[in-house]
Amino acid sequence: MKLLRTLLLATWTAVAALASPARADDGVLVFGASGQLGSEVVRALVAAGYPVTAFVRPGSDRSRLAGLGIDFATGDMLVADDVRAAFAGRHYTAVVDASARGRAGNEFYPVAMGHIVAAAKASGTPRIILHGSVGAGDNIRLFPQAPFGPMTATLAAKGEAERLLRESGLPYAIIRNGILAPAGTPATGQAKLSPDERLMRTVTRADLGRLTVECLRDAGCLGKTWHAVDESLPFPERYR
Ligand SMILES: NC(=O)c1ccc[n+]([C@@H]2O[C@H](COP(=O)([O-])OP(=O)(O)OC[C@H]3O[C@@H](n4cnc5c(N)ncnc54)[C@H](OP(=O)(O)O)[C@@H]3O)[C@@H](O)[C@H]2O)c1
Repeated sequence: MKLLRTLLLATWTAVAALASPARADDGVLVFGASGQLGSEVVRALVAAGYPVTAFVRPGSDRSRLAGLGIDFATGDMLVADDVRAAFAGRHYTAVVDASARGRAGNEFYPVAMGHIVAAAKASGTPRIILHGSVGAGDNIRLFPQAPFGPMTATLAAKGEAERLLRESGLPYAIIRNGILAPAGTPATGQAKLSPDERLMRTVTRADLGRLTVECLRDAGCLGKTWHAVDESLPFPERYR
């Protein structure tokens, strides 16, 4: 009787597994992957064992991503169909947006985020991490002393992208950076994510890569806006 019960249980388990195969895990889709920050994020994800798909433009210079053993999706973040296509038939664990507008106008930020949110919602992506900027949206009011100048309009557009993400209903985390250390500055290992939105400090892109992985692994990172800070790096006096 015991043997029969064991056999029945084993058969049922096998049938159940066939009827509902586990969802494939396509890892993390990274926007802005060919860039200075994005490539550090990709590097950190690969080192942590995540499969990565890099969303790049057809003409993007992929040299920063060479030899990392990742997949590519090509398109333009400003084209909704291109972004949607990157999600088609895929089940990502997470999406990371580390893009910057380059020569495009400030509307790049809300338009691109609108496309990401729509595609992520349609595909059931469980979380989005946005690399944003200190001073985005209303946060700028906390830094009246900072000489943002022409960046003010960019920060307003970045605030709009943040709003779209927060109101999407998708699990999200926003990691704002203040001053980025020059590209290629080695990680200090000292950077942290602070919930204190009054903080603006310097941080390296390499440390932001590590912080992205830590955020992905920690459910407590979700639903919050973080300021990346590194007290071991110099911070320009004029922003204090
Ligand atoms: N606080 C600071 O001191 C500071 C300084 C600089 C940047 N930032 C912020 O940090 C973040 C990353 O900056 P970064 O300097 O590392 O960026 P970056 O090197 O300029 O990289 C930007 C990335 O976005 C991609 N991209 C731009 N437009 C795209 C489009 N239409 N479709 C697809 N991909 C597109 C670029 O692709 P391509 O390779 O094809 O161009 C590139 O991969 C941004 O949020 C930026 O605003 C902060």
